[in-house]
Amino acid sequence: MQNKFYLTENLPPYIFAAMYHLKMEAAANGVEIIDFGMGTPDSPPPQFVMDRLAELSKDGSLFAYSVTGGIHILRDAVCDYYKRRFNVDLDSKSEALVTIGAKEGIASLATAISSPDNYFVVPSPAYPIHTFAFALSKSNVVHLPVIKSQDFLRDFKKLVEEKVANNQPKPLAVIVNYPCNPTTEIVGLEFYQEIVDFCKKHQIYIISDIAYCELYFDEKDKPHSILEIEGAKDIAIEFSSVSKSYSMPGCRVGFAVGNPTLIGALYKIKSYLDYGSFNPLQMVAVDALSEKSDEYLKNLRALYKNRGEFLCELLKNELGWIVEKPKASMFIWTRLPQEFSHMTSFDFCKKMILEAGVVMTPGSSFGANGEGFVRFSLIRNEAETRKAVASLKQIFAKK
Ligand SMILES: Cc1ncc(COP(=O)(O)O)c(C=O)c1O
Repeated sequence: MQNKFYLTENLPPYIFAAMYHLKMEAAANGVEIIDFGMGTPDSPPPQFVMDRLAELSKDGSLFAYSVTGGIHILRDAVCDYYKRRFNVDLDSKSEALVTIGAKEGIASLATAISSPDNYFVVPSPAYPIHTFAFALSKSNVVHLPVIKSQDFLRDFKKLVEEKVANNQPKPLAVIVNYPCNPTTEIVGLEFYQEIVDFCKKHQIYIISDIAYCELYFDEKDKPHSILEIEGAKDIAIEFSSVSKSYSMPGCRVGFAVGNPTLIGALYKIKSYLDYGSFNPLQMVAVDALSEKSDEYLKNLRALYKNRGEFLCELLKNELGWIVEKPKASMFIWTRLPQEFSHMTSFDFCKKMILEAGVVMTPGSSFGANGEGFVRFSLIRNEAETRKAVASLKQIFAKK
């Protein structure tokens, strides 16, 4: 009987599974774990979301299958949100779709549009599904090893222009993700204008992921949607969700908006694969996306901003580890400290888990070009952060 399968044999283990085993090993040795690994918000969602969900869960009729593409009131709410937040007009029937989180949406889109003879351009480092959605669909990925968005734009244009000059196939689509996980970088409208103009000229789709668009720390850094660019809908689809903005990652409600052809392809694949998230979860997402969340978002931004500043200061003052403060997202992304720069990011993180109980994510888990970096998720409070840095200090002192 065959016991090895093409995909599972060829996929590397998912990083958080590997980290989990290391945490278990450290805990078994009596090490207290302070986890800055996965980007899973530690705050509860808005109170009104929890209250309404409790009410809705008493209605037995809502336990039926939902509908492919999401309940219409949520599709409308997504369009209202885009109008209010980005001044973008969308048609809720043809240009908006509900997904089971942004991750599922991107993976299903990849299933819908991949074929063995096309390829996709993805930055490295990148959030893993940006690469593996296409790998899982047995399509091809070309990675551009760049940390900064301007380098990405330059190298992407060069790649496409060379292909065109040599009469070779162009990529079917390119992935952009700002605020970026893991680098935390944000981009302005000029970036989007340039990539939209270029992709329109060369007829390449753009897949944008703005899962962190509400987590910014200064009005001047407020993230944009690619759909703010006139005509972007001709080639761009964008994903986001309620996971990070409203601390609802377990609810599995996300959305895709933009190009009707891609939305249509996504809808068709999803009609085979799923029936959508639990109805009450979609219903409370309607509330989350409304103005009712404004105050909640203000507080959440302040929380992540303060945590980022606090951690950066402590790392600098206690360990001499100079780390750049993020402008958005819920992460800190930084080079390995000087004393440990001879190690791989995985070995460094392994050592810090096993000896200090402090969990970070190795940069290499976001692609080869993330090597030499680590990521902290800003999911621990000040007392935990202080304790974690004190534990790291003991390990650093032994160097
Ligand atoms: C860039 C990015 N996109 C999408 C997701 C997944 O979001 P969701 O919970 O909506 O599937 C994540 C989660 O960490 C992410 O970092």
